[in-house]
Amino acid sequence: MSEQLAIHGGKRSVPESFVKPWPYVTTADQQAVMEVFKSDGIIEQQRIQSEGLAKEWAEYMGVKYCIPVNSGTAALHMSLTGVGIEPGDEVIVPAFTFWASAAAVLHHNAIPVFLDIDPETYCIDSDLIEAKISERTKAIMPVHIHGMPADMDAVLEIAKKHNLKVIEDVAQAHGARYKERLCGSMGDAAGYSTQASKTLSSGCQGGLFTTNDEIVYERASLLQYFGEIIVPGQEREDQKYNAYGLGWMYRGDMFSQAFIRSQLKRLDKNNSLRIRNCNFLTEHLSQIRGLKTPYVPNECEPVYYNYVVGFKPEEIDLNVSPRTLRDKVQKAMKAEGVSMGLWQRLPVPKQEVFQNRIGYGKGCPWKCHDSIIEYKKDDYPKTVEFIDSHSYIFDVNPPNDLELMGMYVEAFQKVMGNLDRLLK
Ligand SMILES: Cc1ncc(COP(=O)(O)O)c(C=O)c1O
Repeated sequence: MSEQLAIHGGKRSVPESFVKPWPYVTTADQQAVMEVFKSDGIIEQQRIQSEGLAKEWAEYMGVKYCIPVNSGTAALHMSLTGVGIEPGDEVIVPAFTFWASAAAVLHHNAIPVFLDIDPETYCIDSDLIEAKISERTKAIMPVHIHGMPADMDAVLEIAKKHNLKVIEDVAQAHGARYKERLCGSMGDAAGYSTQASKTLSSGCQGGLFTTNDEIVYERASLLQYFGEIIVPGQEREDQKYNAYGLGWMYRGDMFSQAFIRSQLKRLDKNNSLRIRNCNFLTEHLSQIRGLKTPYVPNECEPVYYNYVVGFKPEEIDLNVSPRTLRDKVQKAMKAEGVSMGLWQRLPVPKQEVFQNRIGYGKGCPWKCHDSIIEYKKDDYPKTVEFIDSHSYIFDVNPPNDLELMGMYVEAFQKVMGNLDRLLK
């Protein structure tokens, strides 16, 4: 048996306060936000920051249109209306995601249809898509989960064959690439979150919508601002005050936009440092029997929003479930000072909102569109298996570097070397 575990009274592998939090705020970020405060025309800043961010993110993505908004969910909702989704339409969504992907579909009175995941990449299993396509299906929403690009060639091909739209959920994958193409640039529209924890962070809430299609852009713009047409560059007092359809208030705020613009200048650098940290973890953790490190398909360049670790008790002849091993190791790792934990607890369709078809109330959108879609609890075995056998390392972001990653590796070696005692 090696060194005593922190959970049993030994010394922590990661000293107290050693981990640096995300987002990492520089003097330049602080100045960018202060400039908004210091400006003579603080209201004017609303337009300046929004237009500046729209231009810079569209340039980064290599797309024609971007609209900064107040959340990733809003950006996905706008993507759905932008591509023409209407009440009662079905949209195919992976069962493993943050449920906001599906909430955006419900927000438009449309109906999410869930698919199980590819257990290697944790993204939508493209082999299952065609079986779920019905006359009502109008779109597929691949989610680039944990910074891992979904199987986009297959998704785009199926969409083309069945005349479906593709909306990319890029909440967790800013800067990730699939066959050298940026995630978010391949479908008909995309929604990105800039919520505090994300790889492009506002420090609070926020989101970005993008598309290459003028009509999609125009429809999304209507939804973003009360259903009104807002002419870019024109003052509010010169606008028409005429609603052309139902809209929401999804506009982002100027302070977080100034912060995002400053963070965007370091996105690629931050991504490359995070990738270096995660590659280091993979190199060393893959040597530890009983652990499973992320699989990266050749065509994918993930950005590791979080680092995902799997548990394989059978590999080390342990007669416990992956979940038991995971829970015990995770607890011991936390005591070692490693910020490890869980994310989703259930496949999205197993959540109450779908099991009880709560939605808008009175059974809508399902009842009001005579939907026959069912959310059977046993339909997503790979998602359940994934959730039960994996854990996350959260603090892999810069400025945390290889020194901290080295401590994580040592902590794993220590904990996995003490399993006899830990599992007693
Ligand atoms: C995969 C995924 N989709 C959508 C969202 C929604 O983004 P937001 O919280 O900015 O609305 C999130 C946010 O965590 C997410 O992780």
